[in-house]
Amino acid sequence: MNNDIERVLYSQDDIKAACQRLGAQLTQDYAGKKPLVIGVLKGVIFFMTDLLREMDLMADIDFIDVSSYHGGTASSGQVTLEQDISVDIKDRDVIIVEDILDSGRTLAYLKNLLEARNPRSFKICTLLDKPEGRTVEAKADYVGFDVPNEFLVGYGLDYQEFYRNLPYVGVLKPEVYANK
Ligand code: PRP
Ligand code: MN
Ligand code: MG
Repeated sequence: MNNDIERVLYSQDDIKAACQRLGAQLTQDYAGKKPLVIGVLKGVIFFMTDLLREMDLMADIDFIDVSSYHGGTASSGQVTLEQDISVDIKDRDVIIVEDILDSGRTLAYLKNLLEARNPRSFKICTLLDKPEGRTVEAKADYVGFDVPNEFLVGYGLDYQEFYRNLPYVGVLKPEVYANK
């Protein structure tokens, strides 16, 4: 698996530092509150667990499963809800956690879906933000790294559902796509 990587963009240490920085910021911003942290499956799993352990807060956790890429390297444009959250978010301080914000479609969809349920506040935290990918308006409140317009894998991000368990974020070798 590691042989398929052309270069590492963010190492384990880089990611750890970003989690510490964002966790400290959230700890400060949500002091005295009990935020509900909602992870967007599946890409978020590693960031979600690392970020939460850097938050010194009474936070509870839920997940929502939506899909937009359907295995390819470009967003299909179609967002589908695979599994909804399991709690009522009315009057809650909601923090959506994502691995990457790209076209913005996933977050635009989630914002529309969840803000209608009247949370007290609604913020978005993403490890990676790819501003050049945007096709609809979407903005994160907390960002780990602004990333270049390249297809990335690792630390939750997949290519055809694989490479999620790389401990770093990297760029695949072009021949990996060519061989598919
Ligand atoms: C990826 C990624 C984000 C979303 C970002 O998820 O994890 O959730 O796409 O792209 P967008 O801004 O263009 O909507 P994907 O739909 O591939 O599902 P996955 O997390 O299960 O891989
Ligand atoms: Mn995702
Ligand atoms: Mg994906």
